[in-house]
Amino acid sequence: MTVHIGAKPGEIAETVLMPGDPYRARWAAETFLDDAVLVNEVRGMLGFTGTYKGNRVTIQGSGMGMPSFSIYANELIRNYGAKTLIRIGSCGGMQDKVKVRDVIIAMTASTLNSPSSGMFKELNFAPCADWSLLKAAVEAAEAKEVGTHVGGIYSSDVFYSERPDLDKEMTRHGILGVEMEAAELYNLAARYGVRGLAVLTVSDHLLTGEALPSEDREKTFGDMVEIALEAAFA
Ligand code: ADE
Repeated sequence: MTVHIGAKPGEIAETVLMPGDPYRARWAAETFLDDAVLVNEVRGMLGFTGTYKGNRVTIQGSGMGMPSFSIYANELIRNYGAKTLIRIGSCGGMQDKVKVRDVIIAMTASTLNSPSSGMFKELNFAPCADWSLLKAAVEAAEAKEVGTHVGGIYSSDVFYSERPDLDKEMTRHGILGVEMEAAELYNLAARYGVRGLAVLTVSDHLLTGEALPSEDREKTFGDMVEIALEAAFA
C-alpha cells in the first residue's frame, strides 16, 4: 500500500488505464472489464482490477491536473510495477478539423510547466508517447467509425485559460487539443522506462464554444476506452 493507493501487493495489473474522474473509472470497469473488483478507494479515487479479453488490467482514477496525475502514476510505476499506463480522458479541441466527439491520440504533449519542470530546469524536454502503443491505438481507432486525429496536444495547468494569445499560438502550431495531464505521464514513462499514451475524447471546443452534452458522453467515451484497451494488448 502507498500513501494514496490502498491496493494490496499484486492487486494492480501491469496495464493501467487512467481516467481523471474516479466515477468514469467505475463506469469503464463495469462496462468493459470482466470480474472487476474495487482495489482502491483512498480519497474516493476509485481503482478497479479485472480482465479484458483475458488480459489483466486496472482502471485507476488520477484526479485532474498534472500534480494529481503524477502522484498516482509515480506510485503505480514505482510501488506496484505498472508497465503500461494509458490516460483516457477528455480534451478541448483547438483545430477546425477536430470536432466534438472525435478522438485524439496524443503523439506529444507540450507544457508551460509540469511537476517535472523543476527537475528539468533549463531543458525543454519533449514528452512523447510510446510508439508501440501509439501505433496500436491508431490501428484500433481505424477499425471504428470515429473521427481520429494523431498529433501534438497541450497539457495545461489551468482549465480556465487567461491566455487567449497562447491558445492562438497553439492552434497556429497545429496543436490538436488541450487537456491537463498527458505531459507528466510522458515525462514519467520516459524516466522509468515504461509505456505511456493518452487517448482523448474531444468534449468541448475552444474555437467554436461547443460542448458535448453529458448524456452524449458515454458512447463517445466508450470508443476511447476500447481503443485504449485494444492498444494495450495488441
Ligand atoms: N479538458 C477538457 N476540456 C478541456 C479544456 N478546454 N481545457 C483543459 N482541459 C480540458
